[in-house]
Amino acid sequence: MSFAAEPNPPSNALDVLIKSAIKAPTHVFDLLRRLHQLSLDQELVLKNDQTIQNWKDNKELDADQRKHFFDNIMRDKFIALTPDKSIFMYNLARASGALNVVECGTSYGVSTIYLALAVGQNAVQKGVAAGDAKVIATENEPLKAEQARRHWKEAGESVERYIQLREGDLTKTLQADLPSIDFVLFDIWTPMVMPTLRILEPKLKAGAILIADNTAAPGNGYGEFLDHLRAEAAPYSALTLPYQDGLELAVYTPRS
Ligand SMILES: C[S@@+](CC[C@H](N)C(=O)[O-])C[C@H]1O[C@@H](n2cnc3c(N)ncnc32)[C@H](O)[C@@H]1O
Repeated sequence: MSFAAEPNPPSNALDVLIKSAIKAPTHVFDLLRRLHQLSLDQELVLKNDQTIQNWKDNKELDADQRKHFFDNIMRDKFIALTPDKSIFMYNLARASGALNVVECGTSYGVSTIYLALAVGQNAVQKGVAAGDAKVIATENEPLKAEQARRHWKEAGESVERYIQLREGDLTKTLQADLPSIDFVLFDIWTPMVMPTLRILEPKLKAGAILIADNTAAPGNGYGEFLDHLRAEAAPYSALTLPYQDGLELAVYTPRS
């Protein structure tokens, strides 16, 4: 048998989302496929949008103008974690038995569904009450938060009961009432990543897993975060997984 070298990076396409990849009721599986498709379609439009290209190339805009433009464009966009990364994340959360997860950046709640499935299944397996297992989701766009809630309702019991949504700027909403954290997804605008990690770090359990999306994308803005994870005395082991644009995997390993 021979293994041909794969010329392309791992696929973002929906065809990786097959039934054996995650344990989910059929209607949740179908919902995920539908939401991923909407997200992928939006991204294709964004990629070919000349206004965005002009904005990217316009060196005369100052930081505030750039942020304003970016926020307006992204206000109704999914930008969901791609299916291949989502499946990996779900299985990692299951393998690690995570019960308390923080999701930094929720949008329309696609990645939240994977995390909630994993947390719920871990809770059932460990005999833990639903109230002691949750995904803390975070979103500051009210319309996205509202729509995310609708998606979770549609997903039903195996998902909805394991999600606590905190609406508003996560650097404020995560200031209080945090459990000991098993697992964190960073899928948010990169300037928010380090301020958020500083809030979460004191609550991380030894062995907690951090995932961050697109850490190998050109001009990704993750510099300070990656330096923090990789500093010589840093309490982390960290590597970039070879998904398209990279997926950072770090394990919190403080000295006891
Ligand atoms: C990449 S999207 C998240 C996608 C989501 N994880 C998924 O896979 O479906 C990032 C989200 O972070 C939200 N966001 C940006 N800054 C935020 C902040 N300061 N507090 C809370 N949410 C924020 C954006 O509105 C956006 O919906």
